[in-house]
Amino acid sequence: MKAKYLHAKWQKSMRLRFDYNNMMAEFVGEGQGIAQADLRAEKERFAAAFAKVQQKRGTGMMGWTELPYNQAEVVADILVTAREIRRKYDAFVVLGIGGSALGPIAVMQALKHMRYNDLSKTKRKGPRFYVEDNVDPERMRSLFDVIDVKKTMFNVITKSGSTSETMSQYLIIYDMLKKELGKDAAKHIIATTSEKKGNLIKLAKQEGFKTYYIPDGVGGRFSELSPVGLLPAAAVGIDIRQMLAGAAFMDKLCKEERFRKNPALMSAALSYLSMKRGKNISVMMPYADSLRYMSDWYCQLWAESLGKAETLSGESVYAGQTPVKALGVTDQHSQVQLYREGPFDKVVTFLAVDRYRTECVISDGCEDIPDVNFLCGHTMNELIDAERKATEYALTAAHRPNRTIYLPEVNPFTIGELLYFYEMETAFCGEMLGIDTYNQPGVEAGKNATYALLGRKGYEHIREEMQAVKTKKEEYIC
Ligand code: PA5
Repeated sequence: MKAKYLHAKWQKSMRLRFDYNNMMAEFVGEGQGIAQADLRAEKERFAAAFAKVQQKRGTGMMGWTELPYNQAEVVADILVTAREIRRKYDAFVVLGIGGSALGPIAVMQALKHMRYNDLSKTKRKGPRFYVEDNVDPERMRSLFDVIDVKKTMFNVITKSGSTSETMSQYLIIYDMLKKELGKDAAKHIIATTSEKKGNLIKLAKQEGFKTYYIPDGVGGRFSELSPVGLLPAAAVGIDIRQMLAGAAFMDKLCKEERFRKNPALMSAALSYLSMKRGKNISVMMPYADSLRYMSDWYCQLWAESLGKAETLSGESVYAGQTPVKALGVTDQHSQVQLYREGPFDKVVTFLAVDRYRTECVISDGCEDIPDVNFLCGHTMNELIDAERKATEYALTAAHRPNRTIYLPEVNPFTIGELLYFYEMETAFCGEMLGIDTYNQPGVEAGKNATYALLGRKGYEHIREEMQAVKTKKEEYIC
């Protein structure tokens, strides 16, 4: 029988809706919003960006556009491996950072029980799940207090195969596994890396690790729909085929040439025009805890892709928009004050959910206190929705541009749509800015300086450069 998510009618019912009314001058005022004339004036640029993305898709570093279509074989393999992991292991630990960690964290939070690791094994129906994306020694040690390495599968994810953070974690873990398990240690590691480049692939071959490949044309921050994200998701029982179907569905919507009808292109156009008028901060504010780490994933995608000093032709541009994460309603009680009354330098994007997966009725009580009692009989669903609408109203009334993406539900299909939507918006926006969306010289500079400081061969010149930097003065430290 055809899976429900393959039916056109169901897919249509799960379509994300992009509401940009409050980005428009009609709603937030002339000086702050985008006028129809602004859109008309740049329509050639939007058309050119669309054409470039169409022309480049599937080639160079745009291999990610094809991930919804070209992974049948690897997905089948991942599903077999995932079943084995669920059967044999108590914990599944991702070792990775940046694009090799943020997607798995976001998807896990969105699609599994919110307190998954605290559930009993029978309720969880899968291994406990951890993503180690830092090299804080206290955090690393603390992991060993909650897992038994003998019953844990480690997924080492690094495209370059040389990232210091991930490789240092790998060294610690593999050493520990060898001490505990001898020859069987290698069975506890799955490597996800580049097929042809880097050290992890060499190690994987030498040690005999099960390996999944990150395609050449898929950069870290665009890799969530590759084995980088698919294996961790499948390991905890997420329907990865449905996620890919959601991405394919969004891809179709993003192939529409008319920018007003293409959600990612329209969103990119609004982002581009906002940046042009000095709105250099982009706040992502989901009104759902399930989507809270989507903001972290988005922050990396937006910041690393668009934060560039030069255009493709070498002109200085210092492009980009600083992404900020917020959570509705939590941050109404912290950041929203600034969003409403602070500088006019932000665009806020709300993520709204039409139907939460559960309902929570607010109990009766406080009959003598009308100021509390008015809540009784309502649901938390109504409350969170009212608070989102209230914040939207408050910002709009204060001439603060904002937009909302509505997810009919949070499920693998809509998460696939959301991921792909943002990847496409980033691609379109990068073209509008005329920059290289897919490199990250700023990140590489930090990686190289770390190698130099820790004595990696070949990086001596960077160490010398670093030593030539002015010595810090005591007088500026108090
Ligand atoms: O988007 C990117 O390319 C980076 O943020 C990487 O994901 C990050 O630096 C980790 O790199 P790697 O996967 O090579 O370990």
